[in-house]
This record gives sequence, C-alpha cells and structure tokens, in this order.
Amino acid sequence: HAPHPALLPAAAALVAVAIAAGAGRKRGGAGAPPGPAAVPVFGNWLQVGNDLNHRFLARLSARYGPVFRLRLGVRNLVVVSDPQLATEVLHTQGVEFGSRPRNVVFDIFTANGADMVFTEYGDHWRRMRRVMTLPFFTARVVQQYRSMWEAEMDDVLMLYNIMYRMMFDARFESVDDPMFVEATKFNSERSRLAQSFDYNYGDFIPILRPFLRGYLNKCRDLQTRRLAFFNANYVEKRRKVMDTPGDKNKLRCAIDHILAAEKSGEITPENVIYIVENINVAAIETTLWSIEWALAEVVNHPEVQRKVRGEIRDVLGDDEPITESNISKLPYLQAVIKETLRLHSPIPLLVPHMNLEEASLGGYTIPKGSKVVVNAWWLANNPELWEKPEEFRPERFLGEESNVDTTVGGGKVDFRFLPFGVGRRSCPGIILALPILALIVGKLVRSFEMVPPPGVDKLDVSEKGGQFSLHIANHSVVAFHPIVS
Ligand code: HEM
Repeated sequence: HAPHPALLPAAAALVAVAIAAGAGRKRGGAGAPPGPAAVPVFGNWLQVGNDLNHRFLARLSARYGPVFRLRLGVRNLVVVSDPQLATEVLHTQGVEFGSRPRNVVFDIFTANGADMVFTEYGDHWRRMRRVMTLPFFTARVVQQYRSMWEAEMDDVLMLYNIMYRMMFDARFESVDDPMFVEATKFNSERSRLAQSFDYNYGDFIPILRPFLRGYLNKCRDLQTRRLAFFNANYVEKRRKVMDTPGDKNKLRCAIDHILAAEKSGEITPENVIYIVENINVAAIETTLWSIEWALAEVVNHPEVQRKVRGEIRDVLGDDEPITESNISKLPYLQAVIKETLRLHSPIPLLVPHMNLEEASLGGYTIPKGSKVVVNAWWLANNPELWEKPEEFRPERFLGEESNVDTTVGGGKVDFRFLPFGVGRRSCPGIILALPILALIVGKLVRSFEMVPPPGVDKLDVSEKGGQFSLHIANHSVVAFHPIVS
C-alpha cells in the first residue's frame, strides 16, 4: 500500500528538499512528541506509507520512544507504546483522550458521529452508551440468552443468529437465506470500504479530496442501502409490534428497549438505526476473527487441544454440557482464549482515541484533534514485558501471568493486556464476547480433533490488517475428526 502513484514525483522532490534543508533534525513544534522529520503538505506520509500496522508502529517506537508523532498530511497521529502512557490515555486522562478522530469515510458511515462507537466524548455518547447498556451489556442479558447461545452454536450461522436474536428476535434459516446473504454482503462491504487504506490520500491531504469523490459516493450509496435494509426488515417490524396495543411480545429483544428510549424522547430515530449499525460492526466480525485465530492456533498446537479436551473431560465428564455457567470451572480453556487475544488481537491498536483540546502526555504537548492510538498488541507482545511473547502458550496465564485477567475496568487491570481496551471507551461487549468465545472453542475441541489437511504441517496464520482491524489473511481447510467417547 504505497501512497497514490500520481503523487510520487512531487513527493520525491519534497523529500529531497526536506533532507537538503536539514529538516531531518527538526522536531515538530515546541514540546511535541518526537518523530521523523516532516515535509510540507505530506508530512511523514511518504516515508511511512499507508499501512501503519501494529508491528511497524512497534518498530518505530523502538526508534522514537513510547510516545511519538507522525504527521499525515493535515492529520496528526500520536502512538503510545508503553503501559504507563496507556494508563494515562485510557484511564487517568480518559476524559481528555476519550473522543474519536474523524475521517472522511467514517464521517459517512457514522453520519458525523450520530452513532456511539465513533462519536466524540460528551452528552450524546453518554446517552447512547447508557441506552445500549441495559439491553445488551448486563449480566441479566447473559442470563436471558445463554441457553439460546448454546443452542445456536451447532449452526454455522451462529454468530449472526446470536446477535440478530438478541437484537431483533429474528434469525436466519441457512447460509442461503436471502436475508443472510444481503446482511453479510452489506456488512463486509462496509468493513472493506472503511478499513481500506485506499482513501488515505484524500483524508490526509484536503486538496486531493475531489479525487476521492467516486469512493465517497460508493460509501454513501452503500450506507443508504444498508441502513434502509436494517430499517425495513428489522427496526420497522419491531416498531409495529411495539405500537400494537397489548403487552404480548413487548420488550422481547434489545431493539424494543432502544425503541422505548426513542419514544420517551431520549434518542432520535437516526440514533436508533446507528445503534443497529454499531452492533453489526462491533460485535460480529471481532468475535468471528477471534474464533478463527483460536481455532488456527489449536490446530497448530495439538498438545493445547488435548489439554483443553482433557480438562473438559476431567471437570464435566462425558455427558455434562459446556454452558456459560460452567466455563469458570475450565481455567485452561479460558487461558486459551486469553492467549489467542494476546497474540492475535482483532483490534490491535484499539479503536483510535482523540483529544478535543490540547493535552499533555508524557511531558509532551499533544495538539488538539490528534488521533491517539494505543499499541495494545505491542503492550501484550513486547519481549521486555512478556516471556517469549511470540509463542502461543496458554500456560503462561496459569503460571507467571496468573494474575492477568481479561477485563476493562476495576482494580485488576494489567495495562500490558488490553484486548478490549479499558476505561470509558472500553468494549462493553466483553461481557458477551468472552463466554461466547469460550463456549464455541470448548464445544468444538470437545467434539472434534481438528487437524491440518493431509500434506500440511501448520495452518498459515499470517495477518491482514486494515485501518485498525486485524484478521487471519488466508482461510485454511481444517479436518474435523469426531471424538468417539
Ligand atoms: C469498543 C474489542 C466484541 C461492542 C471496542 C474497543 C475494542 C474492542 C478494542 C475499543 C476500546 C477503546 O477504544 O479503547 C473487542 C473484541 C471483541 C469485541 C476484541 C471480541 C472478541 C464486541 C461485541 C460487542 C462490542 C460482541 C457488542 C455486542 C463494542 C462497542 C464499542 C466497542 C459498542 C464502543 C465503545 C465506545 O466507544 O464507547 N471493542 N470487541 N464489542 N465494542 Fe468491542
């Protein structure tokens, strides 16, 4: 992903000018975090390219320190790479750094922050997060739905059905269900357009924005059709049920609670549809990618697979089903999930943060409106902080790292391990994601011996990243041999 080819000659000239002028020794403005010398207009973009992934940023932090800055055209990127500064950004100064940066594509997909995940910190965000919490993110919701989760897990559609049943009391019949085909097409296209690096040039350099018109129109068109699909097929149906006199079928699913908040005037109809859009974006792919990583790692580590199976047999015997309530009795299974999220975080840089006002961090001045990313993957994979971090070794969480919990708050946070972030903007979905992951992996390992296909020694676990997402690059075939007990 190089910068736009048309820009290269001009770019080369500017780099040459900057080097000739000795700009290499200059450091941004007074008090700004260190970083490479920037050229006019492009900043550092031509040096660093488009793909500012967690590994590349970790390498830059070795050179520029635990907080450094890159200028990307008009955008300012601040990268935080150690646990102390992560504590500052996410916890101590959680309000100051609690907003989200904007970009030209996310402005379209969020209607300039009418949603919750990508909106700035303030009253609107607080209201949206409050409205979403009761119907999605409480222990009561887990209790209400846990047997449904367990039932859906035998089906390949499970993640969509789990989320759509919780949200709308609706489910898909099969992978050929036209509604399933539509929903997945809309969501993966949204994901592709938003996570792509192809629009960086127009986002970073405003005078190039006219060249992005086609791309932005594509985003607008997709978003219009996608939201109309959610509205017509799901939201309007529940609205009708809610407007029908009588109590039957009322407050059956999350959207009913959201619609009640709309009725009471707390949120607008636009907010309602953006809550649906946010759940489609935040809940499904992240969890699916974690499952893919976990399965790939257990296939590549047969001894881990045997140990999970052995633990389940020891604790539950051959007949007692794995349920949400007995996962707590399966510490090794939980360690496998932790180790997966440590080594392969689906959101390795967290969702980017932003400071609405000029702020101070690690003794440096952070200009207002900076995109501030915490390299959570590096915090969890830095060899100075972990023993042989490149190894997939769940045992670490029962041994030297037994105090490390997967959490987003409370007194037990270890700032080296933040796959769900921490503090105000942390992931509220952790309460659903952790049991769902453990149930799926536990059930599959218990029922099947999973091995690479004949002739393959290890599955390919190379990564493919986007603006801030990370998933397995290539899908592999896995052979499932039923376990005969
Ligand atoms: C935010 C990770 C599943 C809903 C986040 C953030 C991360 C994250 C890193 C940003 C934290 C920050 O900005 O500091 C994950 C992972 C998941 C997962 C690794 C699965 C393995 C889910 C699920 C849901 C969900 C299942 C909903 C059902 C959200 C929402 C936010 C969020 C609404 C935005 C919070 C805010 O901006 O205030 N998630 N997530 N996530 N996640 Fe998740």
